[in-house]
Amino acid sequence: VTDIRSILAAKRDGRRLSDAQIREFMAGYVSGEIADYQASALLMAIFIHGMEDGELAVWARAMLEIGRVMKLPRIARPKVDKHSTGGIGDKVSIPLAPAAAACGLAVPMISGRGLGHTGGTLDKLEAIPGFRTQLTAEEFERCLERTGVALGGQTPDLVPADRKLYALRDVTGLIESIPLIASSIMSKKLAEGLDALVLDVKFGSGAFMVAKDRGEALARVMLGLARDFGVRATALHTNMERPLGRAAGHTLEILECFDCLEGRGPSDLRELVCLQGGEMLRLAGLVKSLDEGRTRIARALDDGSARECFGRVIREQGGDPRCLDERSLLQPAPRVERVVAPQAGVLAWRDLRALGFAICELGGGRKQLSDTIDPRVGLVFLRSEGERVERGEALIEVHHAERGLAPALAVIQRSFAIVSAHTPAPLVLASWSV
Ligand code: URA
Repeated sequence: VTDIRSILAAKRDGRRLSDAQIREFMAGYVSGEIADYQASALLMAIFIHGMEDGELAVWARAMLEIGRVMKLPRIARPKVDKHSTGGIGDKVSIPLAPAAAACGLAVPMISGRGLGHTGGTLDKLEAIPGFRTQLTAEEFERCLERTGVALGGQTPDLVPADRKLYALRDVTGLIESIPLIASSIMSKKLAEGLDALVLDVKFGSGAFMVAKDRGEALARVMLGLARDFGVRATALHTNMERPLGRAAGHTLEILECFDCLEGRGPSDLRELVCLQGGEMLRLAGLVKSLDEGRTRIARALDDGSARECFGRVIREQGGDPRCLDERSLLQPAPRVERVVAPQAGVLAWRDLRALGFAICELGGGRKQLSDTIDPRVGLVFLRSEGERVERGEALIEVHHAERGLAPALAVIQRSFAIVSAHTPAPLVLASWSV
C-alpha cells in the first residue's frame, strides 16, 4: 500500500476516492496490511461524508472481487433471490424460496443470523431439527440442483471484505450508513451470481431505517448498484410499523411458515410471499406480469407444490422433513404468559424494536456472538394494529422457558399503546425497478 494516510485524508476532507485508492484499500485491508484502526477511520469518514454513486459502485465491486463469485454451472434455471432488511416476524424468505422454486426458479439464498433486534433466517431454519445451514460450496450447488433452493450462510471465501468490514462497523457504531449498508448487502447478493433480485426494504419502528425517506434512499442506492452490475432488480418499500404475521421467535415462526406453505396462515405474510415471488418470476421472464406471477405463487402455496419442495430442501440440508406433518416435533416453549390491554381502546404499535429485545431477554436472541439461541421462545400477537380491544383482553402471548420473563414483560410494555383512534399504514408503500 502506497500510503494509507493519503486515502484516509482524502475521505476525511470529503473528497471522492479514486478507483485505485479504493482497490488498494480493499486489498490491503483484507490481506491484513491495513490495520483495523485505519479501516475504522476510513469507515467513519465515509459514514460522515457519504459516497458518490460511481465511487460506491467501485467500492462494491472491489468488495465483490476479493473472494469467490458463485458460477453454479450445473444450474440451468434463472437464478433469482430476494433480500429483506429485516424486522419483527419477517419470515418471508422461508416459504418464498420453495414457492419460487416450485414455479421454475433457482433460489441460491445466502442469509444471515439475527442482528440487533431482528431475527435471522439462518437461526430460524435451525429451529427445524437437524437442519444445517453451514453448507460447503459443493453441497450448496447440489441442493440447488436437486431442489431449486439452497439456504446457506456466508462461507469464508464469499465477500471476505464484508465479513471484516461488517464486524468492524458493528463495534464502532458505523452500521447505519446508506453506502455501507448498500455495499454490504449487494456485494453478498451479487456474489450469488444472480440474474435478478428482489429487495424488501422495510420502514417503521421495527426496521433498521425507521424513517420512510431513509428507507427509500437505501432502496434507490441498492438499485443503482444492481443496475451497475447488470442485474435486474425491484425494491419494495414495506411496512415494519407492525410485526409481520402473528408470530415472532424461531420455532413459532417456522410453524407459521408451514401454515403459509399449506395455503393458510396470516394474510400479510401470504401477501408478501405472493408479491415478492410474483416479482421474482416477472424479473426472470417466466411470467408476463406481476399479477400472473402472484397467481402462480399463490397456486404453488395452495396446491402443495411449494410445501413438497420445502420437504425436499429440509431433507437435503440434513433436517427432519417429518416435522412438516408432525408438528409436535417442533415444540414452542412450555410456559405462556399473556400481556393484556390496560384499558379499552385501539391497539397502536409504538416501538417494535422492543419486541425483538424482549425475545432476546427470553433467550431467543444473542447479546454476544457466542450466545446460543433458545428457538422455542417467542411472541404470538393475538390482536392486530388498529383493532378495538377491551380492558384486560389478551394482546400478546409470551412463550417462555422461565428465563428473562420479567425484563421481557417490561420491554413489551414499551412496544404498544392503547389509543382512541389509529389508522395503520399500508403493507406496501411503493416499488421501484431497474
Ligand atoms: N445487513 C447486511 O448484510 N449489512 C448491513 O450493513 C446491514 C444489514
